[in-house]
Amino acid sequence: MSTGSRSGNPRLGVNIDHVATIRNARGGLHPDPFAAALMAVGAGADGITAHLREDRRHVRDADLERIASSTDMRLNFEMAATDEMVGIALRLRPPACCLVPERRTEVTTEGGLDAAGQAATLGPRIRALRDAGIRVSLFLDPDPVQLRAALALGAEVVELHTGAYAEGRPGEFERLREAAVLLATLGLECHAGHGLTYANVGPVALLPQVEELNIGHFLIGQAIMDGLPNVVATMRALIQRT
Ligand code: PXP
Repeated sequence: MSTGSRSGNPRLGVNIDHVATIRNARGGLHPDPFAAALMAVGAGADGITAHLREDRRHVRDADLERIASSTDMRLNFEMAATDEMVGIALRLRPPACCLVPERRTEVTTEGGLDAAGQAATLGPRIRALRDAGIRVSLFLDPDPVQLRAALALGAEVVELHTGAYAEGRPGEFERLREAAVLLATLGLECHAGHGLTYANVGPVALLPQVEELNIGHFLIGQAIMDGLPNVVATMRALIQRT
């Protein structure tokens, strides 16, 4: 996504991974994550986020390629910092990449990257992505040690993991607030995401340093809740005999 917020508001990145999860449940083509991405952009999303996992459990290579080559949307490619994923990013050249930790058995991205502990492996990969003109973000817990490590590693952006805040853990909003202030002091762009919903997004969106929010699971789930009456009514009409 572009740098700089629209009218002082955070940009909204829509993560379409779970459209692919539903498609993959039946192995067919419906619903199509690319069509969903177009709809999201048409409805006001500033960009599309997709996480190509090692096990391809949701979006697949072909989905990512279609989104990356579309001039209608800006892709934020969420990826593990592996040689395979860096190779794909260098081939597709999305405007932005977000490096996330990935464990095969996890249900979703649990916690941020250990940027401080994995500097030796992350550094060259961040450099390779940046040299290709890709804006690199690291998905980190709101921990000052990790945020300073991001600066040392040459990342331009940090996406703060809002999972603990979204679970309602005490003190987590304050940690996010302090982390956002520290990122501004370090000269790093601040994004945030994970577990955000209608109910909890407000305070995070109001943090003045937060330039982008990336939201997926809630939006796709809520789309089902908001859209189900429509599709049931359409199907009801289609099965009428008289
Ligand atoms: N940002 C990052 C870096 C993520 O890994 C995820 C989850 O894939 C999200 C945002 C979106 O989180 P959620 O699906 O909980 O909204």
